[in-house]
Amino acid sequence: MDKKALLKNLNGKWLLGCTCGLKNEATQGVCGEGSHSATVVFIGEAPGKKEDELGRPFVGSAGKFLEEMLASINLKREEVYITNIVKYRPPNNRDPLPKEIADCSEWLTEEIKIIDPTLIVLLGRHAMHQFFPDAKISEAHGVLVTSNYFGKTRNFLPLYHPAAALYNGALREVLKEDFKRIPVMIKNLQKGKVCR
Ligand code: URA
Repeated sequence: MDKKALLKNLNGKWLLGCTCGLKNEATQGVCGEGSHSATVVFIGEAPGKKEDELGRPFVGSAGKFLEEMLASINLKREEVYITNIVKYRPPNNRDPLPKEIADCSEWLTEEIKIIDPTLIVLLGRHAMHQFFPDAKISEAHGVLVTSNYFGKTRNFLPLYHPAAALYNGALREVLKEDFKRIPVMIKNLQKGKVCR
């Protein structure tokens, strides 16, 4: 089966079988979307109001900003893969609870295994804590981390969440600067070079 078919199966299975309590209040599940052969995967926290309405990740104001930053490094959203750690909107956009994150975590792990990207960008502290529970986003942002994830060495880049940066000019500048390093990081990773 090709990656597209594998992802379709995966999402079908989890949309039916996910035990996450958020499912009861959300309008619909919001699966990851984008290129199935993406070099880079972006992982956010959880769908918001607009994402819940449309059933697509990052389509509200944070998504618009993410698209602007992608454009700044000559990428379109269709060329990357975008997903979230939980696939259902938490009521009133509250933080997802540890149990809700745990219930959706295998779904995310399987997505990553199928896409098998060169770089995984973790947007915000919730996404980062899924992989690095003790890290601080103020220290970890913009620094490439290589770590074993379910038996495979993977490259992670924590960044500030676009929604946080939207309302904080200083964070916005930091995020833009961190973002600009992505193309060189990917190039070096593809050449087998380690970059920090
Ligand atoms: N914020 C997220 O973390 N994910 C979305 O899909 C939208 C906003």
